[in-house]
Amino acid sequence: MIFFDKETKTFYLEGKSTTYAFFINKFGYAEHLYYGSRIGRDPLFYTRGKGGRTCAATVPGEKIDGFDEGSSYHYFPSELAFYGNGDYREPCVQVENEAGDRICDLLYDSHEILPEKPAMKGMPSMRGGETLVLHLYDSVTGFGADLYYTVYPDTNVIARRVVYKNCSDRVVKLRRAYSFTMSLPTQDYDFLSLHGAWGMEHRIQKTALHNGVISIDSKRTTSSASLNPFIALCSKGATEESGEVYGVSLIYSSSYVLKAEGVNDGQTLITGGINDFDFSWKLEGGEEFETPEVAICYSSEGVGGMSREYHDAYRSYLINPNFAKKSRPIVINSWEGTYMDFDNEKLMAIASAVKGTGIDTFVLDDGWFGTRNTDEAGLGDWYVNEDKLVGGLNTVINHVNSLGMRFGLWFEPEMVNEDSDLYRNHPDWAIHAPGRAHCYTRNQFVLDLTRADVRDYIVDSVNSVLKNHNIGYVKWDYNRNVTESYSELLPADRQAEFAHRYALGLYNIFDRIILANPDVLFEGCAGGGARFDPAQLYYFPQIWTSDDSDAEERTLIQYGTSIVYPLSSMTCHFSVVPNHQTSRIIDTKTRADIAHLGTTGYELDTSVFTDEDRELTKQQIAEYKGMEPLIIEGDLYRTDNPMESNFFGFTLVSKDKSRAELTCYQRMGRPNAQLKRFIPKGLAPEKNYYVPELDIILSGSTLMNVGLLPVFERGDFKTVKYHFEEK
Ligand code: GLA
Repeated sequence: MIFFDKETKTFYLEGKSTTYAFFINKFGYAEHLYYGSRIGRDPLFYTRGKGGRTCAATVPGEKIDGFDEGSSYHYFPSELAFYGNGDYREPCVQVENEAGDRICDLLYDSHEILPEKPAMKGMPSMRGGETLVLHLYDSVTGFGADLYYTVYPDTNVIARRVVYKNCSDRVVKLRRAYSFTMSLPTQDYDFLSLHGAWGMEHRIQKTALHNGVISIDSKRTTSSASLNPFIALCSKGATEESGEVYGVSLIYSSSYVLKAEGVNDGQTLITGGINDFDFSWKLEGGEEFETPEVAICYSSEGVGGMSREYHDAYRSYLINPNFAKKSRPIVINSWEGTYMDFDNEKLMAIASAVKGTGIDTFVLDDGWFGTRNTDEAGLGDWYVNEDKLVGGLNTVINHVNSLGMRFGLWFEPEMVNEDSDLYRNHPDWAIHAPGRAHCYTRNQFVLDLTRADVRDYIVDSVNSVLKNHNIGYVKWDYNRNVTESYSELLPADRQAEFAHRYALGLYNIFDRIILANPDVLFEGCAGGGARFDPAQLYYFPQIWTSDDSDAEERTLIQYGTSIVYPLSSMTCHFSVVPNHQTSRIIDTKTRADIAHLGTTGYELDTSVFTDEDRELTKQQIAEYKGMEPLIIEGDLYRTDNPMESNFFGFTLVSKDKSRAELTCYQRMGRPNAQLKRFIPKGLAPEKNYYVPELDIILSGSTLMNVGLLPVFERGDFKTVKYHFEEK
């Protein structure tokens, strides 16, 4: 609920159990007051800093000396920091005016409170929600900024963004156009982020905040596995379950930056959005510039509480509602089973072998199109390789359908191989810069999605395959980053718009393919989880979490990914041993138990299945189906962090707390090892639960205080699972 107190000019934005408050100060600036647990709608001016700073610039035109309370913009906790006056902190926006100066001064003009957030133009965002639009305006230049704040009654996530407006008839250049400024009153936080690489996505890193700026970014024209577009500010001593944590999750899939600045008055300013490195945007008179939405979050229940807020908010308001809260297909994916070496018979044998197991979708991965027999050729030629699949795709599709299964297909539409008809016909469609050679990654180039003709080609070629075949599932891959950022069709003074225009082009393609095929489930992928971001989740209800399917590696990857993203959004496949990425041998039970902590599936050559394998698969899927509601809608409590210990533990709890599951994992088995107690969390203390593994009824309070002592089988990489059913 959004409340405006006219007398004090204070806005109170109330989420499920939080308050975000700011007011319009006597100079007309939007000044932050509070963000945290729900408070009364009290006047909060007594919390303002007392000034006392020497040599601070006054507010423009106000000849009050630097000791006067709040007289310098530098010391207002801002709702939107800008550049050119007395504020030397990280600005949210920097405008180059026609005269060449880079000054703006954004004062309150008016505001609106809308019952429902208007949909964003051309960019993914959270849906609905009561929204405050604060109109700020610079009367000298006619530059304006509309600040959007959206609150939801059932989550503590607030969606924010800024729309910059050139209300003049002159051209201005945006040198920086971030999405938000957030002010926190202290500096006693650790800066948490998720770093990674191929095969080892989303590792947690933490560093203490200090005076100066700590930032993470991407310059890759994608969000990347190197640094996920997410940060959290964790109060000192915050744990998984306690302490204050502020999250910042950017709904964007191109080059971004997120920063936290410790200011020497003890406060912290958080900001970010589109990376202003290698960015500018020309705004003609009357034009607007819409920034990506950011989902900020407050939790007083530690990092785990913040994760649960994001999981709920993204499942309810971001992820495609056609799939978000529905049971997902159980896929057999051909990649690790065949790579690109297959024919009709092989594919049909893989599908036939899983009949009756519960696997309901066969996904043909890379290698079905153009002359794609190795990764050196074919990308861009989205027509069936009939030398390989004699008679076209329909032979396999009809067979799969006759088994009662859905058929799915892999695409990598943003890419082109040099050895392809597409490249031979349109070499200029691959991103390239004048006079410069291409960098190669996996022998492929990225197509220039800033161009309408390229986008039309992609939309037409993918949509025509979907139209002419019975396809219910698509895996959309993206296996390299942009180099030689440049588009032939953009004028020189717009070249630095490239990375953002790529994102807009990508979203446009998604809208025209994904939203145009509402019954097809599109799974995201980027060589695993190298584009696992909220903007992708808007289109893809699930994303291939990592190419690394080894269960031990997956405990680390899935733990880190769950910091922001719900388990249902992570595709997790059971694969063979020795594992193709690590050569590790881990037993079937552990592989299944870890693959069940997400949207599960299979990735192996099932054509060699014995009856025993089939029976085992059937049992695994029956077990998974039993727990699927917890994956789709339950709450996650992480109990043991494999990045910090020999153990991993996830408790999944239904919203009504009537049932739960605890998965316990031990990495190394050692003789005379320590006794390890796993403490399930999130149960109702007063409820009684039957634990079938121990054939015992215990209260939630006992379980959550005394814990459980699993006996792991001898050996390494072992799991034990417990179920809790209310009695
Ligand atoms: C990427 C994906 C894999 C597979 C291959 C196919 O690496 O992450 O799952 O689809 O491409 O080339």
